[in-house]
Amino acid sequence: MAITTMTASHAVGKGKPDPSFSSAHGAGSAIAKFGKDKVTDATLGVLKDENGDFLTLPSVEACYRSLPGNELMDYAPIEGLGDFIKAAKEYVFRGHQPEGTYCTGVATPGGSGAIHHIIFNYVEQGGTFMIPVWHWGPYREMATEVDRKWETYEMFDESGKFSLKDLKKKAVELLKVQDSLVTIFNTPAHNPSGYSMTNEDWAEVTEFYRDCARDTSKRIIILWDMAYIDYAGDPHKLREFLKNFEGLPENILVAIAFSMSKSFLCYGLRSGALLCLTPSRAVADEFEQVNTFSNRATWSNGSRGAQRLLAEVMGDKGLLETVERERTAYRIMLEKRAQMFFSEAKSVGLHTLPYTAGFFATVPAKETGALAGKLSDQNIFVIPLAKAIRLALSAVPTSKIPGLATKIKDLYAGHEV
Ligand SMILES: Cc1ncc(COP(=O)(O)O)c(C=O)c1O
Repeated sequence: MAITTMTASHAVGKGKPDPSFSSAHGAGSAIAKFGKDKVTDATLGVLKDENGDFLTLPSVEACYRSLPGNELMDYAPIEGLGDFIKAAKEYVFRGHQPEGTYCTGVATPGGSGAIHHIIFNYVEQGGTFMIPVWHWGPYREMATEVDRKWETYEMFDESGKFSLKDLKKKAVELLKVQDSLVTIFNTPAHNPSGYSMTNEDWAEVTEFYRDCARDTSKRIIILWDMAYIDYAGDPHKLREFLKNFEGLPENILVAIAFSMSKSFLCYGLRSGALLCLTPSRAVADEFEQVNTFSNRATWSNGSRGAQRLLAEVMGDKGLLETVERERTAYRIMLEKRAQMFFSEAKSVGLHTLPYTAGFFATVPAKETGALAGKLSDQNIFVIPLAKAIRLALSAVPTSKIPGLATKIKDLYAGHEV
């Protein structure tokens, strides 16, 4: 009999093709065949300019290219350069670190590395963490990779409004059977919906978990995945909710996954950080210790050049202002695309998830592979999710937005949910 697998039993069958990257490949082939003008590539969550070309922030690129060879090529310390951790804290909090909290952290390869460590180090082996029904797929893959499970909760009620009702119900159920609970919140500009949690939403989350934490045998971990924050509005307003974390009990830990990918448009440099907020010095020290160990045991150290880059940007007020000016221009471009898409969707009656900001528009649908296939026949490439198609407006030049919602609506019959 022919041997078809040589992997250990837990690895058999994993690694189906990633739908994002296979749709992106389809778009690439269509561009090669028909030319860029004829193809709308709304697949990958990267920012592209009005010609459909990859965008960088010029000041970030110039700063990176100016770094000396040793800063680009040498190892970084396992936990990350000290200057980087300091810069990451400054960037993440922008002066809004809650009073009375300790913050420690480690450098990670992007937000992905940070999320991996939380799933590995803060969810029991075989245990379950919570994500919304609408979520970034790799959360599940990371869980499977390390033998963890996830529970999903409805994020929007029947009228399409954000709701914490189902989260509370599921959290209470899980806390009956396990002593710790990790919940991931990707906000603002959530992937894939574009929803940004309000200060009131956060106040409700914190109040609920404070209640759960009255049972001191329970440990509550809130992971804030802030990957898209820089495309969601005023940096200070977006951090006001951190005030909720003042005076937390010691059995609530807030973890933060910071990513340089979208904020500095340097996805491929693979850099970010995992930070924590806690009223307990011991918990903060442990956080640094266990995650440094996991860095060593998983990928060793991060990319020194990217770490030095952040330290340079945060250490130079003029440079930071330039970076922010350049990024604001991109954000305005993105807002224009979104405004055009969503107002057309509304006028043709195309149902979308509630969007506040960010890279994506999401259209709930059934048989999403077939719908994506019909769109690709018209040279429009999107990502089919389980219960929706996702469009990366970030990657679609503004000139290609008009008519897009109408085309989807025209092909939508039979895909209603
Ligand atoms: C919701 C969400 N979180 C985290 C990330 C992490 O990205 P990276 O690992 O490139 O920092 C992404 C990237 O697409 C994302 O969409």
